[in-house]
Amino acid sequence: MRYLPLSAATYREHRNRFRQHMEKGGLAVFHSNDIMPTSADGSMPFKQASDILHLSGIDQEETVLLLFPDAVDPKDREILFVRETNEHIAIWEGAKFSQAEASELSGIATVLWTTSYDATIKRLAPQAEHLFLNSNEHLRQGNEVETREERKNKELRALYPLHSVRRSAPIMHRIRSRKTKEEVAQMQRAMDITGKAFERVCGFVKPGVKEYEIEAEITHEFLRNGSRGHAYTPIIASGYNACVLHYITNDQVCNDGDVILMDFGCEYGGYASDLTRCIPVNGRFTQRQKDVYNAVLRVQRASIAMLRPGTLLADYHKEVGKVMESELIGLGLLDKAEVAKQNPDRPLYKKYFMHGNSHFLGLDVHDVGLWNEMIQPDMVFTVEPGIYIREEKLGIRLENNILVTRDNPIDLFSNIPIEVEAVEELMNRRKVVA
Ligand code: GLY
Ligand code: MN
Ligand code: MN
Repeated sequence: MRYLPLSAATYREHRNRFRQHMEKGGLAVFHSNDIMPTSADGSMPFKQASDILHLSGIDQEETVLLLFPDAVDPKDREILFVRETNEHIAIWEGAKFSQAEASELSGIATVLWTTSYDATIKRLAPQAEHLFLNSNEHLRQGNEVETREERKNKELRALYPLHSVRRSAPIMHRIRSRKTKEEVAQMQRAMDITGKAFERVCGFVKPGVKEYEIEAEITHEFLRNGSRGHAYTPIIASGYNACVLHYITNDQVCNDGDVILMDFGCEYGGYASDLTRCIPVNGRFTQRQKDVYNAVLRVQRASIAMLRPGTLLADYHKEVGKVMESELIGLGLLDKAEVAKQNPDRPLYKKYFMHGNSHFLGLDVHDVGLWNEMIQPDMVFTVEPGIYIREEKLGIRLENNILVTRDNPIDLFSNIPIEVEAVEELMNRRKVVA
């Protein structure tokens, strides 16, 4: 394995948390993702479904997990199914998990081959009252392709039409919202690698480099540190491109005098990091660029201080909007009198700051979470205010990853330079890149 997984004790803890929310007689079923085809005999690299990874640590296709706390036979209370391996698979694809390895990693005693899943369901479903089925209830999910989980859910519902069905997704959103200690440590590993990549590009960028050359430097640093790559498609956007919020073509030349917005983060052990930094192509910000940068930095710092238990995310976002509003007035981009008469449902600051300030972060970059409940300790959020001024071909966003605690919030990117002077210093050190 390229990365250190979490301990079996942590995966056990995650399953215990899930079970606490199950009703008596519930049988929960979780499936892995499919390997997605491309064309001819090609396929996409495998990406495990986050929920089964969270509950078992098994990062392999054709994995199934059953949680059945009230099963008559204790051996049936937790069953993991993994793809049956053989000599042919070992030669062509490399070794897959043996049952003993899967058991050791996940902490699950009963491990069977996936080929026995159907027969096991036929044996156990009649003992169950409720089927806890999982589905993608992410607020912004929009997938036209049927997942393996959706296919298998349909099969189960057709086989057992009289069982009541319960939703696992709200439970997963709840338990994945609050990170366990080892999850935070794994995320910190991802963030530290991302920080190294930032330092690398600061020593690399100069007028004339292409955005994709910067992307290549980042990818190189990720891979050499044990990450499997980007947690999401990176945005390397110089000049005006920084005002295109989802710019990912990364194919333009970085020009002297422009600022580059770089939004990137590596994945480590399935966990995401999500950084945004803006740097001057020639190593020095102009006064105007500094002013906008520092305005964004003040909004970021004020926002981080507000990430405390007991606050509703909607209220937090409203407060952030007010701080941004006053910064935009200070920059001469909004007029105070106009702001005083604005429609509160359509605040004027949205002309320059049109996206959310924070999202949950974890196994998914836009992680699942409890959007309508109070912020709680152990949640991890991004804080990513931005000001995008198209007429000045300037976009500044600064994004850090923050752990909420009972006390002060902890900035998991605190080691990555963010002050104007620190960024300029890093760029002008021009260290030789190995
Ligand atoms: N990189 C995606 C985001 O910042 O939300
Ligand atoms: Mn980002
Ligand atoms: Mn983000």
